[in-house]
Amino acid sequence: MAKLVINGGNRLYGCVEVQGAKNAILPLMAAAMLTDEKVVIKNVPNLIDVHNMSKILLALGADIDISSDRALISAANLKSSEIAHILAKELRSSIFLLGPVLGRLKQAKVAYPGGCDIGLRPIDIHLKALREMNVKIVERSGYIYCDASKMTPTELMLDYPSVGATENIILASATLKGKTTIMNAAREPEIVDLQNFLNTMGGNVKGAGTPFIEIEGVERLHGSEYRAMGDRIVAGTYAIAAAMCGGEIVLKGCKAEHIQSLLSKLSKTSCNIKHIGDNIEIAAKTKREAIEYIETQPYPGFPTDLQAPIIALQTISHGVSVITENIFENRYKHVCELLKMGANIRVKGRTAIVRGVERLSGAEVISQDLRGGAALVLAGLNAIGTTIISNVHHIDRGYEDIEKVLKRLGADIRRV
Ligand code: UD1
Repeated sequence: MAKLVINGGNRLYGCVEVQGAKNAILPLMAAAMLTDEKVVIKNVPNLIDVHNMSKILLALGADIDISSDRALISAANLKSSEIAHILAKELRSSIFLLGPVLGRLKQAKVAYPGGCDIGLRPIDIHLKALREMNVKIVERSGYIYCDASKMTPTELMLDYPSVGATENIILASATLKGKTTIMNAAREPEIVDLQNFLNTMGGNVKGAGTPFIEIEGVERLHGSEYRAMGDRIVAGTYAIAAAMCGGEIVLKGCKAEHIQSLLSKLSKTSCNIKHIGDNIEIAAKTKREAIEYIETQPYPGFPTDLQAPIIALQTISHGVSVITENIFENRYKHVCELLKMGANIRVKGRTAIVRGVERLSGAEVISQDLRGGAALVLAGLNAIGTTIISNVHHIDRGYEDIEKVLKRLGADIRRV
């Protein structure tokens, strides 16, 4: 099993070409199932999650070829409407396939999805919406059996703006005759990317980025070539790395507005930030002040996926920070690893109180989930001495070549 070994203390200088957004690309790959023509998705990073999604598409009967940063997908001959447990357990996003498989084949048998262990992660909002669209659903022995032969468009009001449920409904209704509307839809930029992609395929989706989305089903979608958006969470992680290590970096290929909730906090406490077009320049200040309050929220609020990285920064910022995790109920597994490195953190329920220390110290730590693992890398970059991180496969689910990117910026990091 690979490990990351980091000797902390180096400043970071240089440029990062931000990878394509995993959370945009996975639903785009699912959307490719809706047409029998060839689809090309560009800006696809080499990630375990992307490969796991490819395996599922192959099992459904699609042809898929990923080389350099392009995915060529052809779903001309789908042969199955089943996603087996062995494939679904590796990837929470397997649930996105429910919508397009129902749209295309009118039936599906899908195992309950897996993914990071950061909370209960039910899929009741997805299923409630599909039931309201007249899909017959039976849940039995770990599988969801769906019959969409009578699926009809309708007006949906989500109990919570779930990202995945919003995407699933868009995918289920893109080729369903009539108008489906979603109220209290999630507003994440990845949903806008999905809308834009579907519209290049001949779809008719409006309103993504707002809480009210309208999908006018079209008879058929055609092939398309599309470049996925830059990964705002990866960009945010490297921005925090600069804040923790000192130095100056430029992030290329991510819109500043997509991580405004982070950048506005960093610019008040630890960095000078400029942005021109899709370039974000980050220069670390000499003193880091704690961010007093941080609460994770649906977009455009502070993203839950940056909660672990921002906690890493708070462990070495001057003062006390109070962080509340509102999205997932079990997302503080990185804290006990950070404690091994000398951090001063207390967790009570959904709140973490962090009192900054001067520097962390290197230790052997275990990555427990994707973003928590990234937080440990950030902590290792700052720490005095050597940090060894195991269970790196969690980090590889979302960060392409993390050690190469950081090494190019001047970090002393290697994979063993
Ligand atoms: C997506 C992102 C993930 C991010 C999350 C929140 C992808 C591939 N993943 O996950 O990185 O952390 O948004 O920004 O895009 N919920 C229910 N019932 C449901 C669906 C969700 O209770 O049917 C709850 C979840 O347990 C969670 C909250 O709603 O507490 C948010 O979940 P959701 O927005 O659906 O996140 P995902 O789409 O799973």
